[in-house]
Amino acid sequence: MQTTTTTRNTPSMATHETNPPMPSEEKTAMMQAIVQDSYGAPLDVLALRDIERPAIGPDDVLVSVRAAGVHIGDWLVGSGLPYIIRLGYGLRKPKTAIPGMEFAGVVEAVGDNVKMFHSGDAVFGWGTKAFAQYVSVSQDSLMRKPANISFEQAAVVPISGFTALQALRDSGRVKRGQKVLIIGASGGVGTYAVQIAKSYGAEVTGVCSTRNTDMVRALGADHVVDYTKEDISEAGEHYDVILEPATVPYLVYAVR
Ligand SMILES: NC(=O)c1ccc[n+]([C@@H]2O[C@H](COP(=O)([O-])OP(=O)(O)OC[C@H]3O[C@@H](n4cnc5c(N)ncnc54)[C@H](OP(=O)(O)O)[C@@H]3O)[C@@H](O)[C@H]2O)c1
Repeated sequence: MQTTTTTRNTPSMATHETNPPMPSEEKTAMMQAIVQDSYGAPLDVLALRDIERPAIGPDDVLVSVRAAGVHIGDWLVGSGLPYIIRLGYGLRKPKTAIPGMEFAGVVEAVGDNVKMFHSGDAVFGWGTKAFAQYVSVSQDSLMRKPANISFEQAAVVPISGFTALQALRDSGRVKRGQKVLIIGASGGVGTYAVQIAKSYGAEVTGVCSTRNTDMVRALGADHVVDYTKEDISEAGEHYDVILEPATVPYLVYAVR
């Protein structure tokens, strides 16, 4: 990351160097963020810069970010590859200059309609522009951080964890005693899916490659199938719910 060099060269830093100090109110309205002005590899395009702190609307929460997760989506959007995604995320450069989709931190301020969160609450959630000192998100995108996990641990849960939760709880409607097959059990979604299915009391079979079988077993899977050695479709087993990562990106569904 070109942090030092780029920061020195940014217009906002030039203003700091030449002008007298800003009044304290204006100072607190600034923050540092990781920004990117073009598509490319992270080391080539990411830079640390001083920018304005985000504002909050009546239903929003301003979170002081302690840790941000680097999601696969950040890599895709940041690189602009495959090219088709640029139709949605910006033709020549990313529409959103600040990457970051998931985070954990401490509530700094809340909008007038926010009753569930208060200043000082430890929270985690998803949104946009999380690679920054502060992020502004809807209260609906936040949860309280459990005390027994760190900010770093909480920051990587939201997107993959909730994808797994939605697939198993909402689509699959997993119940105690059911047999659940999780294909891709060692992946971003699958590692959460194994643990969630176990917490629902299911009998879990996880599918992964040889190097990850111990890890999937350690996550709680009752049975592990190594797809490099066995074809799960030929095993003759029947399952109540199957979590199958689709070949189409960003689609995971549970087949009952
Ligand atoms: N990550 C997210 O937050 C998210 C959100 C929404 C949708 N999705 C979608 O969910 C799917 C999975 O995403 P992910 O992030 O979990 O992917 P990932 O981290 O790359 O994991 C892929 C998983 O698939 C396994 N796998 C690879 N080849 C296989 C084969 N031939 N047979 C069976 N298993 C095989 C891998 O096992 P080994 O590593 O052991 O080889 C690994 O467990 C993708 O379609 C993605 O677009 C992901």
